[in-house]
Amino acid sequence: MPGPASPLPHAHREIVSFVRRSTRMSESQVRNWDAHHATWVVPLAHRATSTSVADGQLFDQDVVWGRTAPLWLEIGTGNGEACVAIAGRHPEVNYLGFEVFKPSVASALGLVAREGLGNVRLAEVDGVDALRHWIPSGSVDRLITFFPDPWHKARHHKRRLVNPTTAELIADRLRPGGSWHLATDWEDYAVHMREVLDDRTDLVNAYADTGGWAPRPDERPVTRFEQRGLDAGRTIRDLVYVRAS
Ligand SMILES: C[S@@+](CC[C@H](N)C(=O)[O-])C[C@H]1O[C@@H](n2cnc3c(N)ncnc32)[C@H](O)[C@@H]1O
Repeated sequence: MPGPASPLPHAHREIVSFVRRSTRMSESQVRNWDAHHATWVVPLAHRATSTSVADGQLFDQDVVWGRTAPLWLEIGTGNGEACVAIAGRHPEVNYLGFEVFKPSVASALGLVAREGLGNVRLAEVDGVDALRHWIPSGSVDRLITFFPDPWHKARHHKRRLVNPTTAELIADRLRPGGSWHLATDWEDYAVHMREVLDDRTDLVNAYADTGGWAPRPDERPVTRFEQRGLDAGRTIRDLVYVRAS
């Protein structure tokens, strides 16, 4: 039997799309966090692990943003470059970025605060868990997953953010007509994404008539991860799937 201080057994069994890394922050990240987290980071209660999201917390846009607007979510915001560029171009939407790695959230906070983006909020949690336990069905207008970790080894494929279980969850959370925008620089993951999403009758490839790959969106800045793929000569693949009504 685990002692009182041991994590609950199920905390070990959950398969997640990230590895836990040191959360040591640089001086500027500490400064960003201290100055800005109260304004831009949504406080969420957890279950057994610090990246989990406890049940029973109301998702209310009026509480989070002080207004109700089209809801755009990003899982894996990294240092926040895409989040800031896209939310900055779309002040009419409420944009919520999920990122498990606290130093990255702190870096993103610096960018969000510099631009003064009132339509952005960040949450330092597993975005999949947040969707499952916090975000209501049919409430999301756009979901963004740019350059998710590829998890190359076959035995790690189950950790990929895009898998049949998360696809079912995301399809449910999208409203009819809502879209899921994905990008990757790994061809086998791109093909895997298409196979998983094409299997669902409630998700439709928006570019099925033109070969299936979506054009690269101008609004996305080239992040470190996209640049790394380009430098290595890899093709960047974008995909857009729309939730059928
Ligand atoms: C390869 S990086 C890409 C970051 C960013 N999207 C970009 O294009 O620069 C993947 C990011 O996703 C985060 N991540 C992975 N799984 C996650 C999850 N389930 N919820 C939130 N963040 C996640 C990682 O911590 C990492 O910052």
